[in-house]
Amino acid sequence: MQISGSTALLTGATGGIGQAIARALAARGADLILTGRRTDVLEPLASELSARALAVDLADRAEVSRLLGEAGDVDILVANAALPGSGRLEDYSVQEVDRVLDVNLRAPIALAHGLVPRMTERRSGHLVFISSLSGKAATPNTALYNASKFGMRGFATALRADLRASGIGVTTVFPGFIRDAGMFADAAVKLPPGVGTSTPEEVAAAVVTGIERNKGEIDVAPLPMRVSTMFASLAPETAGRFARRIGSDDISSQMAAGQREKR
Ligand SMILES: NC(=O)c1ccc[n+]([C@@H]2O[C@H](COP(=O)([O-])OP(=O)(O)OC[C@H]3O[C@@H](n4cnc5c(N)ncnc54)[C@H](OP(=O)(O)O)[C@@H]3O)[C@@H](O)[C@H]2O)c1
Repeated sequence: MQISGSTALLTGATGGIGQAIARALAARGADLILTGRRTDVLEPLASELSARALAVDLADRAEVSRLLGEAGDVDILVANAALPGSGRLEDYSVQEVDRVLDVNLRAPIALAHGLVPRMTERRSGHLVFISSLSGKAATPNTALYNASKFGMRGFATALRADLRASGIGVTTVFPGFIRDAGMFADAAVKLPPGVGTSTPEEVAAAVVTGIERNKGEIDVAPLPMRVSTMFASLAPETAGRFARRIGSDDISSQMAAGQREKR
């Protein structure tokens, strides 16, 4: 699908990766609708990119409906907003559990549900879901995030098959650890030697490729990380034992501590 001249709705535009995606889509000539909660970040970004800014809380179902109504016809959805959902389940209130599932999984599904009928009428459109390698392999201290990101993969894969004949593309992007900006960088956790990172701009480039070439799935991580994720998805018990030996419990609890205020 051609991005230039298309209307693209991007959630989580105020975040580290969202800002890079917004800039990449603007550079390709998209008419952008940017969303987030922090208007002090959203509004300057929108005026820099000549975009529309719609401040919404995606944990609020009525606000998701309002967003759909105010956005109007959309050619491209990039469902990027998410909460880190890190930490042990028993440390969450049930309201916090709901918020992770609502923002990370329900809102992307509800937005797709609202947009697909008009896209089907026009026989054109593209949906991009930003998952994570945590949507392919589970790690300690990440049960809620894993649930939401595995769920997103299942949803997007099935939807891609259902929409194949309608002229609507579906792409899922799976970033690994992203440096410089975003929820991992904000947690300021030091990774063991040899565990590589990628940049927000690489995630943004994957979004562009996904739309332009209608790719089903794109991983954004160095090769060793992609291979170890594939192994962990095939043999989670063995991979878990190995990961514990190189300190995965410690790293994931540091990550949860660093992301505590984003619940
Ligand atoms: N960073 C990484 O290493 C990494 C790795 C794998 C996957 N990912 C995925 O990449 C995507 C972007 O993450 P990021 O690193 O850019 O995270 P981030 O910097 O924490 O940004 C999260 C974004 O989600 C928005 N958001 C959170 N709760 C919201 C709510 N209730 N209503 C509306 N918007 C809400 C935030 O907007 P406000 O703050 O303005 O509310 C912000 O724009 C996520 O799907 C994440 O799971 C990230």
